Amino acid sequence: MRVADRIAVSPARAVTGVLRMPGDKSISHRYALLAAIADGPSTIANYAPGADCASTLTCLASLGAIVSRTPAPDDGDPPIVTLEGRSLRGLAVPAAPLDCGNSGSTMRMLGGVIAAHPFISTLVGDASLSRRPMRRIIGPLTQMGATVTAGPGARPPVVIRGADLAGIQFSPDTPSAPVQSAVLLAGLQAAGQTRVIEPASTRDHTERALTAFGATVTIEGRTITLPGGQRLAGRHLRVPGDLSSAAFMAVAASALAGSDVTITEVGLNPSRAGLLDVLRRFGAVVETTIEDEWQGEPVGRLRVRHGAMRDLVITPAEVPEVIDELPVLATLGTFGGSVTVSGAGELRVKESDRIAELVAGLRAMGADAEERPDGFQVRSGGRLTGGTVHAHHDHRLAMAFAIAALGASGPTMIEGADAVAVSYPAFFDDLARLTREG
Ligand code: S3P
Repeated sequence: MRVADRIAVSPARAVTGVLRMPGDKSISHRYALLAAIADGPSTIANYAPGADCASTLTCLASLGAIVSRTPAPDDGDPPIVTLEGRSLRGLAVPAAPLDCGNSGSTMRMLGGVIAAHPFISTLVGDASLSRRPMRRIIGPLTQMGATVTAGPGARPPVVIRGADLAGIQFSPDTPSAPVQSAVLLAGLQAAGQTRVIEPASTRDHTERALTAFGATVTIEGRTITLPGGQRLAGRHLRVPGDLSSAAFMAVAASALAGSDVTITEVGLNPSRAGLLDVLRRFGAVVETTIEDEWQGEPVGRLRVRHGAMRDLVITPAEVPEVIDELPVLATLGTFGGSVTVSGAGELRVKESDRIAELVAGLRAMGADAEERPDGFQVRSGGRLTGGTVHAHHDHRLAMAFAIAALGASGPTMIEGADAVAVSYPAFFDDLARLTREG
């Protein structure tokens, strides 16, 4: 699906309707990576349709895992992805650098997978990914026995000479699920056991996925223990809808009076559900119903209706669980109430500097917004005017600005709107459906 690079968003009275989200990006990456080092074939239904998860598949194909796509039986479902697993440490030397595109998760987690393979490979990315810090994986993978080098400031390209690894105990300074996952994926293919002690809870999809593929993982509080050398069995998997994509529609429903949006078959993993607590605090009426479990991931319905609009404070302790939702949560402050976030310095090293660009964009639309070293404040200063805003090649900024635009008095032109293709190619079509019905 091609998305235009400039899209105008008109103000809306309300959002209403029922939608399904694209497959979860975080879970899709993990299923593909584990399938590639499992024994036998795996199928992945509802694999995330965005460019990031396509980058993971392209890299795995370059490493010799045969990837194919077949049409899904249900209309409207994305093709089913089949991966022929190559077993632990069974990937092949790639002929060219592995292009991770815009996807930091691909680079970090794939780094963990290939560190256990006896060859040299190079991980590269686009301009945005080439600015992101990789020291956080270089440290532990080196400690496990791989030789890892990177460009100035430990930024990509990352060159990994894989080796026979040994398990480690790893206590990262910054909570990051892809970094911890890189260590677990390396640890799975290492001698002895690997232990990760999380500084704060992060999304636990890797732990659940490892279990689904047949590995034994022990979790005690924030300590994850994984014995190395456990072989994985290929599986038939289905990816739940992405709650981080649903966040955009949920925020719109919370912010616009008269809104009522239901998202079906969405992932409701508690380690991702911080967003729902925040929306309730803001005053939205949020209902979830868990209807099923797919490979250990809870799946169900999410219904969000507009309620009150209160001032919101998001504390440093909450940040890891809402890290991807912070740009869109910021927009709540443009509808009423205010939003104050601290302890979120990590936002500066995402796909863009999400503190600087978010605040600049909201201000360009007429918001009263202020940048802070590790966060921001958005105060209700009357209705936004709209105008022209740039997404800075950042999918979550493009979508956050589109949600803010719904509350403006005039239209907003979003430049660089095509960035949504990274995680949610149908975003603007879905938003148009909800606002038409509203
Ligand atoms: C992700 C975790 C988050 C998130 C990223 C995907 C994952 O990164 O921003 O988009 O799939 O585990 P950090 O944990 O590094 O903040």
